[in-house]
Formats: sequence, C-alpha cells, structure tokens
Amino acid sequence: MAWWQKATVYQIYPRSFQDSNGDGIGDINGIIQRLDYLQNLGIELIWLTPMYVSPGRDNGYDIADYYHIDPIFGDLTDFERLLNEAHKRGIKIMMDMVVNHTSNQHHWFQESLKGKDNPYHDFYLWRDPVDGQAPNNWLSKFSGSAWEYVPALDQYYLHLYEKSMPDLNWRNEHLRAEIFKMMQFWADLGIDGLRLDVINNISKDKHFPNDTFQTPSDDGRNFYTNGPHVHEYIHEMYEKVFGPNQFVTVGELSSTPIDEAIRYTNPAREELSMAFTFHHVKVDYTGGKKWTLGAYRLSDLKRILSDWQTGMAAGGGWNALFWANHDQPRAISRFLDDGQYRDQSAKLLALVEFGLQGTPYIYQGEEIAMKNANFTAIDQYQDAESINAYHQMLSDGIDEALAIKILQQKSRENCRIPMQWDQTAHHGFTTGTPWLMPVVHDNYSVATKIHEPSSVFAFYQKLVQMRKTMPILIEGDYQLFEPEDEAVYTYQRHLDTETIRVMANFTGQTQVRTMPNVKEVLMDNYEQPQFDGQQITLRPYEAIMMRV
Ligand code: NOJ
Repeated sequence: MAWWQKATVYQIYPRSFQDSNGDGIGDINGIIQRLDYLQNLGIELIWLTPMYVSPGRDNGYDIADYYHIDPIFGDLTDFERLLNEAHKRGIKIMMDMVVNHTSNQHHWFQESLKGKDNPYHDFYLWRDPVDGQAPNNWLSKFSGSAWEYVPALDQYYLHLYEKSMPDLNWRNEHLRAEIFKMMQFWADLGIDGLRLDVINNISKDKHFPNDTFQTPSDDGRNFYTNGPHVHEYIHEMYEKVFGPNQFVTVGELSSTPIDEAIRYTNPAREELSMAFTFHHVKVDYTGGKKWTLGAYRLSDLKRILSDWQTGMAAGGGWNALFWANHDQPRAISRFLDDGQYRDQSAKLLALVEFGLQGTPYIYQGEEIAMKNANFTAIDQYQDAESINAYHQMLSDGIDEALAIKILQQKSRENCRIPMQWDQTAHHGFTTGTPWLMPVVHDNYSVATKIHEPSSVFAFYQKLVQMRKTMPILIEGDYQLFEPEDEAVYTYQRHLDTETIRVMANFTGQTQVRTMPNVKEVLMDNYEQPQFDGQQITLRPYEAIMMRV
C-alpha cells in the first residue's frame, strides 16, 4: 500500500486561504501561519493551486513564468520556507502543474507570435484559416470558439480555455523537454508531487476534425480528450520526473471513462498515482448542460460513484475522492441542506466520501461547513468562466434573474470566497479588503466551530485518523445496496472477516430501513443512532458508519 492511499489531502486555494500582508490576497506566509491548524486536522498532503507568475486571467491557471512565484503570493524563498515548515510537521506538498496551455504572456507565446519560422511557433497549435474561417467548430470551455485569429500571421491558435490561454503542442519534442526540465526544477526544490491540470487534453487529433454537436459534449472534446498520444506523454513524464523523484501525482481527467482512468492510474503502466474524475459532480447537469438550474436523483449519484468504485478496483486503478474543489460550488449547498441541517449535511458528505475506496480530498472550508457565496449581481463575480457564461446565457435569451440564479447554483466562484477563520472583520482572512467579497457575514468560522467536540472539524479529524489505521477503508471491497432507493445511500466495505456499512439519508425527512446486526457504531452525525431490532430510523441527513 502506498502512503498516499491512506493519507488525506487538503486543497488550498492560496488566493483565498490566508492573507499575511493586508493586500486582500492570500499568500505563502499566510499558509505557513496555518500549518499548525492543518497538522491538527491530521492531513498529510497539501495540494496548492497555481502560484506561478501569471497575469491572473484565470487565477493562476494562465502561467507566464513557470520558474517563479507570482509576487502576490511571495517569492521562492517564501516557498522554500513553506516546504520546510510543512515537512517539519509531516505534511507533504503537491503543486499544481498546468501544461496543457500557458498564458499568452509567456515568452514562448510572445516568440511564437513573431513569425511562422520562429522556433517557438511550433510550441503552440497554430492553423491556417479554412475558407476564411476558424479551422474547425470546436468550442472553448470558457464560451465561444476555441480558435483565435491573429491577423499578422493570418493564422488561428487553439485555446480550449480562455483566449489568453493558448494550448501547447505536445508533439513538439523540444516543448516536452522544456516541460520536463521545469518539473525537475520544482522537484529539486523539494516538492513531493504534482496535480496535473487537464492533463488528459494534451494530445489533440492532428487532423482537427469538426465535432458533431449531437449532444452538448460533442463540442470538440471527442478529438482531444484522452487523445492519441496522451499515455505516451504521461509515461514519458513518469520516466523523466515522477518515477525518479518518487512523486505522488493526481491527474485532472474530465470526460474520461473508467477504462481510460485505469490506464492512467494502474501502477504497472507507470503514469499517474490517482485520478480526479467528474461524472458525479455533473449529476445535476440538466440534459448534460452545466449552465442550467439542476436537480439530481440520488440513484444516479449512487450509480456513478458505485461504478467508479467497482470499476477502478477491478482494473487496479485508484480514485481521488472529492465533493468540491475550486471549480465547483460548495457541496452542502449543492447536494444537501446548508440551512437548518448544515452541520449534518457537511458530516454526511464527509462520511460517505471517507468510507469509499480512494484518496480523500478536503477542499478548504469544507471542514467548517462553508457554504455557497450566493452572489446577487454579475459585478460581484471575477471569474472569467462565470462571467462569460452569464453573457452567453443572456445572448441565448435567458433572462437576467434566471442567469444570476443559475450562477448562484453552478458557479465555481461560490467556493472561492475567503476562508472563514474567525468572527472579526473579513473573518480574519485579511486586514485589508478581500479580493473577493462575501455578500453576507456568516457566523461559521474556525474560531467558533473547531473547539466543539461535535464540530464538523472534529468529525473530519476522526475520519482522517480512521483512514490511517483501518485497512478495510483502503483495501476493502465495495458493495452498493438498494440502488433505486432515492433517499438513502447504503454501501458496504468488506475485508477478510470485517464488514463496515455506511448508511446516509440524503433527504430532510425521517427514513426507516431494515438492517443487519450492528456490532459497533463507528461514526454517526447525530449523537445516538436510533435502532429498533432489525430497523433503523434515520433522521434528516443522518449518516452512520458501523461494523456489522
Ligand atoms: C482546470 C482548473 O482546475 C480550472 O480552475 C482552470 O480554469 C482550467 N483547468 C484551465 O486551466
């Protein structure tokens, strides 16, 4: 068993975690101040979203210089101090690495603009117009065409994301060599691993065919997701960087089926340690569309999670487990109840996640039940994806009130408001003005919550410890019960002679279910479970883990 299979990962969105210099933006010294807090939570690995030099069009996912820390976060000396301080506390650090694209401010792109014969021109995906139009009909994930025309070259460049984020050409071996050299630079500094941004998109079909648009997913992604050479490229990364440096790695693998995810993560293939997949957080995409008011059926959520549990185990792959990250709304607001049953909801999601097979991730603030931002006007948003989607919705005829409502439910900005440390102004995040302002002051914060023995934080603490000491949670088989039950999610883990059952009531109503003999209650998000012979009464959002 690898150490990271038993460990819990904590995701930090540095911009919103802790500001130490009053400029309203979280920074490295702020993270260092909070390491004791993370050690107390028990996590063993931190994933830091990008902090490299960047114009910030996509909050750091648009990198202009891979070798330096952006001054808003600090500098390399601060970063080395963070590594040392984390390592002293038994915490490892995984950096975010974005190599599908760069910022258009990166000097490679600036060079590539200079002419078709510039050596860096081929570092990007430039194509001639076809009949005076873009080379194909692919869409950018940030709305509109995925191609941008540059009159001086009479060519288009591909950008699967924002137009200031041109895609790199992985067929170019000099580009690959530059990327591996840069990854080794960070390895030499002492990082422990990498989270690889949209890594399954790096190999495009060289013919760039039009997509069919038969479903909302036929928007080009059929020709670049898990593309022709992606496994070769990742194996090359493994040979050059991940293997020699004993890195832990997680690939962001959107729109990827189970058999592909197994290829990426089965250790025998020497690619990645684990996979982030997103089918379960698309369960509320009505008709496959993100920008809709969505509802979900528990049976769908259970089916997706269960398929991934059994499928990955059968093929020797490894899941990364999560409900939210910096690209998702808050899970308690999205799937459960962030009002009256806020704490129960947060604990339910934690329990269901930590009972599954895979490596669990906590996104900053989940451990204190932070909820959606619920912005009421478009000018409260800064996220390019959300703002573009809003304008797209209006031009598609959706009225403004509905567009705002959809953003309140689906926008990733919801989970980017600053971490709530205490009840002082701006929740102790900054002494200045936060870069992103919450609309209302929330009475949930670390200071008010973590000392209660029944807190969400204490619940997570216990789960994190259980993962370290109970092999059944890591290695046990998974079995789903009652797949059609729209209220209760029941599953079991089994290893040798041991069996653990998880039952979670995803509704606000009491549910009565039959159940086997209980040997021991391991976790309950209410004080005492209500058993009566072979029956259990689950209160609103009650979740129980028990030995049976
Ligand atoms: C995935 C990242 O998580 C997201 O925040 C970013 O916008 C895109 N990749 C593009 O890099």
